[in-house]
Amino acid sequence: MAAHDAISIIRAKRDGASLSDEQIDWAVNAFTHGEMADEQMSALAMAIVLRGMDRRETARWTHAMIETGRRLDFTGLPRPTVDKHSTGGVGDKITLPLAPLVAACGAAVPQLSGRGLGYTGGTLDKLESIPGWQADIGVGRMREILADPAGGAVICAAGADLAPADKRLYALRDTTGTVESIPLIASSIMSKKIAAGTAALVLDVKVGSGAFMRTRDEAHALATTMVELGTDAGVDTVALLTAMDTPLGRTAGNALEVGEAVEVLAGGGPADVVELTLALAREMVALAGLDTDPADALADGRAMDHWRTMVRAQGGDPAAPLPTAAHIDHLPAPATGVLTRLDALAVGIAAWRLGAGRTRQGAPVQAGAGVRLHAVPGDRVTAGQPLLSLHTDTPETFDRARHALAEAITVAEEAGEHGARGPLILERVAVDRP
Ligand code: URA
Repeated sequence: MAAHDAISIIRAKRDGASLSDEQIDWAVNAFTHGEMADEQMSALAMAIVLRGMDRRETARWTHAMIETGRRLDFTGLPRPTVDKHSTGGVGDKITLPLAPLVAACGAAVPQLSGRGLGYTGGTLDKLESIPGWQADIGVGRMREILADPAGGAVICAAGADLAPADKRLYALRDTTGTVESIPLIASSIMSKKIAAGTAALVLDVKVGSGAFMRTRDEAHALATTMVELGTDAGVDTVALLTAMDTPLGRTAGNALEVGEAVEVLAGGGPADVVELTLALAREMVALAGLDTDPADALADGRAMDHWRTMVRAQGGDPAAPLPTAAHIDHLPAPATGVLTRLDALAVGIAAWRLGAGRTRQGAPVQAGAGVRLHAVPGDRVTAGQPLLSLHTDTPETFDRARHALAEAITVAEEAGEHGARGPLILERVAVDRP
């Protein structure tokens, strides 16, 4: 196909046509190899935002992105592989206890993860707060850890050769107002997950103020598209829609979240983190065809043993004290009554401004920075009691963090009909195999 076909492909999508497999393969390849200009791909991405893509087009787009890079292969391991992906939320540390827990149940969990950009933290940033822990390990080492009966869980950095088309396209979408498209988001996430070589996948699709998808309908549509993409590509995929109006657990930050994950592995931790960890673990264990109850593996310490092995296998010291911030300030409860709202987005932005997140790719993050919640929606509070503590090495950020939280908190005299926290797990999405 000639290079000028970029224009006919853009025009076709602009006018609402369905693109052929050949047109999609050509556009994704030409863009990846610099034969389709950034402005042409931006125009095509905008046409897709406005016109959408059907199931066949989205599957082909995903396939074309996978084919631009390497596809990992974990067949032949002595255990079934199963992975998890979250669309990202505030205080979402679930991967940390989940991966060793599912490994303790007998599965191999190959999790290629990313660093955070913006207010939702990256799993690698969290793990890097553990002294010595390294995100960059090769595929050979990954395979060894996955095969180890005492291990079985790896959380590491995705190599640049995994769906390289997505890397380029995501950077372009980020600067051209073309992130918000269900087929583009779904193909971006699923191209990386399918290329990573897992046999099964559980998706945690977040809904609410602290999530990408603000409404239940949008989240349902995204989950359905991703489950279809995985299933069509031969990866057994299930999604849970889960609430993200208030932070998960009681911490948002890097070392703060690792500390909370360790509490869960030790049999304690906040009830919502335990509930979601077990719900996702049950889905993963079922997809892997294993007959173990994750609650038992959590209660009897096997999950904690696999956590320690996982951390050590990547150079970390699971017994080392976690870094703490140099400065802590408190935000008091504004009134006496019931805390009825603590907005996830505001807490995420505050943690980010305190130094837990980055404003540009490659910038460092502070290991100890973040927010600790001393009360959660539904709790009674007394005016002046510490409601949140703000942690940072850079105290000049306190004012901006407080500013982010100015409208985030509601304390009412009584809980009222909206006072109690709604359900955490909203829906399960699965489709029949083709
Ligand atoms: N995460 C991704 O990996 N891609 C998107 O498009 C959005 C979120």
